[in-house]
Amino acid sequence: MSTRRPTKAVIPVAGLGTRFLPATKATPKEMLPVVDKPAIQYVVEEAVQAGLTDVLMVTGRNKTSLEDHFDRNVELEISLEAKGDQERLARVHEATDLAHIHYIRQGDPRGLGHAVLVAAQHVGNEPFAVLLGDDLIDERDPLLSRMLEVQEQRGGSVVALMEVPQAQIHLYGCAAATATDKDDVVQVTGLVEKPPAEEAPSSLAVIGRYVLSAAVFDVLRETPPGRGGEIQLTDALETLATMSAADGGGVSGVVFRGRRYDTGDRADYLKAVVRIASDRDDLGPEFVVWLGEFVAERQRAASDASATGDQATS
Ligand code: G1P
Repeated sequence: MSTRRPTKAVIPVAGLGTRFLPATKATPKEMLPVVDKPAIQYVVEEAVQAGLTDVLMVTGRNKTSLEDHFDRNVELEISLEAKGDQERLARVHEATDLAHIHYIRQGDPRGLGHAVLVAAQHVGNEPFAVLLGDDLIDERDPLLSRMLEVQEQRGGSVVALMEVPQAQIHLYGCAAATATDKDDVVQVTGLVEKPPAEEAPSSLAVIGRYVLSAAVFDVLRETPPGRGGEIQLTDALETLATMSAADGGGVSGVVFRGRRYDTGDRADYLKAVVRIASDRDDLGPEFVVWLGEFVAERQRAASDASATGDQATS
């Protein structure tokens, strides 16, 4: 296996986004705006920031607006140019100039493991990153660059892990792991996709960042459909965890304790919008004042209602 520092990122974007219907009926979920940028742009920016400038998106039907977003829009550029609106022009260019973005269709979508396998030819024989578009990682809490560092030091593959409450573990891949001499790094000894809480080996959930050894491709080719009848990346990683380093095996985990937003979940999506808007220099100060007033008003209304209720029942 080559030990070259990874330069390629794979972003699977073929999902249907059913949790956001009807918004996602004709618009890919990855294009939903988080403040004024589509969610996918944050993810590509994160990859680029970690030094991954070759991005492969594994797409499906109805995803052409994604390609358009990262392409030039000459008509719009000419119009902004004519108005002398350099600021907006720069924002339009941001997405175009970010990275070398390639697209491949998944065809028959048979799960996350299958989406990664579709990237095999593009990736070749070198370690690479996988970023899932539903997870936004706050740029102040770098995760991917730490994972790349751990991969460089320990070889094999690296998953991102996060402690979650027991009641939520069935939503994630879950890792069995042992400690290492680094506080934020564990040795993964086993993985199971979305276990019921009582069968979960730990409270460490796999979140949507991976640095994978190219050995994953051969493993995925042999991985039968798992949970939900889909070819699961988690199952392939479970196999890699038991393979020798000489064969590209071994799985480490980086335990992330920073800020992560699951934009695939409606409530979390709203929280991401509020937090990111609050932190923005241009919008934050005014927005946070409004938010404070809004919350205070809601609390007053709730306490007035309960006082009225108390009177009515007394
Ligand atoms: C996928 C993976 C799962 C992982 C999760 C992270 O599940 O299969 O192991 O924990 O992403 O977001 P999905 O959320 O696509 O169902």
